[in-house]
Amino acid sequence: MSLNNKKRVFSGVQPSGALHLGNYLGAIKNFINLQDDYDCLYCIVDLHAITVWQNPTDLKNNIFEVASIYLASGINPKKSTIFVQSNVSHHSELAWIFNCITRIGWLNRMTQFKEKAGKNRENVSSGLYTYPNLMASDILLYLTDLVPVGDDQKQHLELTRDIAQKFNNDYSDFGGSNFFPIPDPLILAESSRVMSLRDGTKKMSKSDASAMSRIELKDNNDLIRKKISKAKTDPLPIPDSIEKLEGRPEIKNLLSIFSSLSDTAVDETLREYEGKQFSDFKKDLSDLLISSVSPIREELIKLENDKGYVRDVLDDGRTKAIEKSEVTIKKVRNIIGLG
Ligand code: AMP
Ligand code: TRP
Repeated sequence: MSLNNKKRVFSGVQPSGALHLGNYLGAIKNFINLQDDYDCLYCIVDLHAITVWQNPTDLKNNIFEVASIYLASGINPKKSTIFVQSNVSHHSELAWIFNCITRIGWLNRMTQFKEKAGKNRENVSSGLYTYPNLMASDILLYLTDLVPVGDDQKQHLELTRDIAQKFNNDYSDFGGSNFFPIPDPLILAESSRVMSLRDGTKKMSKSDASAMSRIELKDNNDLIRKKISKAKTDPLPIPDSIEKLEGRPEIKNLLSIFSSLSDTAVDETLREYEGKQFSDFKKDLSDLLISSVSPIREELIKLENDKGYVRDVLDDGRTKAIEKSEVTIKKVRNIIGLG
């Protein structure tokens, strides 16, 4: 809870490559809707990005780009705090403390680590392994109530809740009782898992080798049309019910994208398109995508020519984030008995 009695929202995006439709529908679009009713902090989580190698020049540009995409998508810096994680060293400090709270067994259960490390488990950074502790620190440092994320972050949110509970318990006799609120995830069903356009069983991702698998927020209109026209479908017609989408992941994905862009339920979209050709549906989907993505792209171009403004937003965000996080970290040091 913040000083003005509004509940607090925190979320973050990694500056590790071109942002895509999954980031937009799964996360950023929801950030916008929360700004009036909550005290929102939207972070560019560069310390998370370096858990895998980042070229320093690219990283600097990507940090700036995520900030610009936040602004271009409609996050209003007068309402929300936009800032860079590494600008506020309290994140790293609390993450270290959580390294000492989290049990190894809890981290061993994290499916995202298993996926990212794959067969290379002995050779990935230890930061990739303790990554969820840093994420818990981001969230709990601001005594967050609500965290809007895509479905892939659900398990990390559960871990955050466990860390908050264990801290509160371990230090209950030292002022820690109920210290951290237990945050709730906000995961919207239709858009929480946008899949690859080439393989409906795989998540749309920055790291997929093929750019044809994702719509990037910087794609121009022609490229959007091309990617949608080449998106994988199957020879069957568009069905009349959600149940009949089972076993047809690519179709389900395209219909879900359409539905979340147009803010309609999937069964309503099905009613409109059942029995129709995919070519008709894809044309409408491309139009809809272009009407959502092109204003963001145009705004981004303006911001590229106004780097001073983006810098000012981030400087201001840093000051506000430090003011807020300082209150928590001082109390935490005191509860633990540090210093
Ligand atoms: P990342 O790019 O990993 O920093 O993710 C930033 C936000 O986008 C997180 O809330 C993710 O859950 C969300 N996200 C990433 N990929 C997808 C996807 N394919 N579908 C839905 N949400 C996603
Ligand atoms: N781990 C998240 C992702 O990869 C990004 C993230 C870092 C985050 N810290 C966070 C999201 C705090 C929500 C809240 O998508």
